[in-house]
Amino acid sequence: MSSAFISDAPLYAAVRAYADAHPLRLHTPGHAGHTDALGGVLGALPALDVTELPGTDSLFEADGPIRAAEEKAAGAFGAAHTLFSAGGATLCIQAMLRLVSRGKERRVVLARGAHRSAIHALALLDLEPVWVWPEPLPGSALPGVVSPRAVERALDICGGAAAVYVTSPDYYGTLADIAGLAAVCREHGVPLLVDGAHGTHLHYLDGGARHPLAQGAALVCDSAHKTLPVLTGGAYLQIAGGWFSRGEAKDAMALFGSSSPSYPILLSLDLARAWGEQHGAPAFAALRVRVDALYGRLAPLGLPPPPGPRDPVRITLDVGRIGLSGAEAAMWLRAQGVSIEMHDDRHIVLLPSPLHGDADFAALGDALVSFPVKDAVPAAAAPALEHPSAVMTPGSALRAPCERLPVEQAAGRVAAEGCSPCPPGIPLVCPGERVSASLAKTLKTYGVNHLHVIK
Ligand SMILES: Cc1ncc(COP(=O)(O)O)c(C=O)c1O
Repeated sequence: MSSAFISDAPLYAAVRAYADAHPLRLHTPGHAGHTDALGGVLGALPALDVTELPGTDSLFEADGPIRAAEEKAAGAFGAAHTLFSAGGATLCIQAMLRLVSRGKERRVVLARGAHRSAIHALALLDLEPVWVWPEPLPGSALPGVVSPRAVERALDICGGAAAVYVTSPDYYGTLADIAGLAAVCREHGVPLLVDGAHGTHLHYLDGGARHPLAQGAALVCDSAHKTLPVLTGGAYLQIAGGWFSRGEAKDAMALFGSSSPSYPILLSLDLARAWGEQHGAPAFAALRVRVDALYGRLAPLGLPPPPGPRDPVRITLDVGRIGLSGAEAAMWLRAQGVSIEMHDDRHIVLLPSPLHGDADFAALGDALVSFPVKDAVPAAAAPALEHPSAVMTPGSALRAPCERLPVEQAAGRVAAEGCSPCPPGIPLVCPGERVSASLAKTLKTYGVNHLHVIK
């Protein structure tokens, strides 16, 4: 693969030029650019780990190479503005919710599958969630997605909301109907916010048509480090035209972000965008062919791709269908030298990269087809979950004095924290919600032994 894309990354060029001049570094970070710091373990990174210097710009007041890098990213991703985050998708989610928190409307309609970073941001910003629960996918135990109809009903019932917030794709790769949700939001005049943490690479598949930005979302967080060659903590906040200005979004990020963002992370975002423009589409098309071929190899075992619209390059296998638990399958694979992203009681989730080649896929396929298949078990349905009622907002609950109790003793009390075991992969309880006796039992079934409740 050609590395010509490296010359197209303005922030990388600025920092590289600074490092190549070998200045005596009398500024943070404390390794002073020494590649032999920490026994040389960090290798080449310290040379490029700099701070806000003349020529290297400043993330939240960007007007130099960071701004140039972000503008190139916006052009590449089809956004009005793209902002870099060295604080993961979490910082982007905080910024998205901050942006919609300035009006008088405090309610946000959210799909229940929200990541805990969204629940914490709601609490910090004193926003009130109106939850919409997902509809199960037929023939699958996966959590499912919210429908545009259900979101429309929630908007009509609550009579006004600051935004609608959904996650797509979810951890298992299931895609929500973002175009349908965007149409509902347009009719109600509210912005659609998408936690697309797991879907940055959708920019490179099908001409980017499946990315939430192309489907009408106002704001999208792309946790680039999950599926692109980006250092951990690197994410893009994508802003569609007509909703929020670049300046407002920078201020929203600065509210929660560190004033010392990691330059190596920012450089990797710059380089990944440059790489993606030249190599992203063919690399992910090739990955999709490999993933399809792998599913083809697994079909005779009774391990089909999951149902419903899905991320074509995520590998989610319902190993419960061949009589294995997720933990058993993960352990089996580990013994074959394959380390996976996640398992729940009956699924395993694998995140292949475009950097994996044919030999990697051959080895992965060999490991998967060697599963010790037990009796075939029909697909299970997603569990029916209790919808706890809210007694107070997440913010009030997080500010209240609390105590930690064995979950059996939490019955009748108000949760002071959220709890999202996998399965079921969505929050069973959120801060401020009442824990019924039956919910306390369900939490125990899902392996939750203790819970913080309000005193
Ligand atoms: C759906 C979802 N949203 C947001 C996040 C937070 O992403 P980050 O770790 O980049 O802050 C995660 C992390 O796993 C996630 O799974």
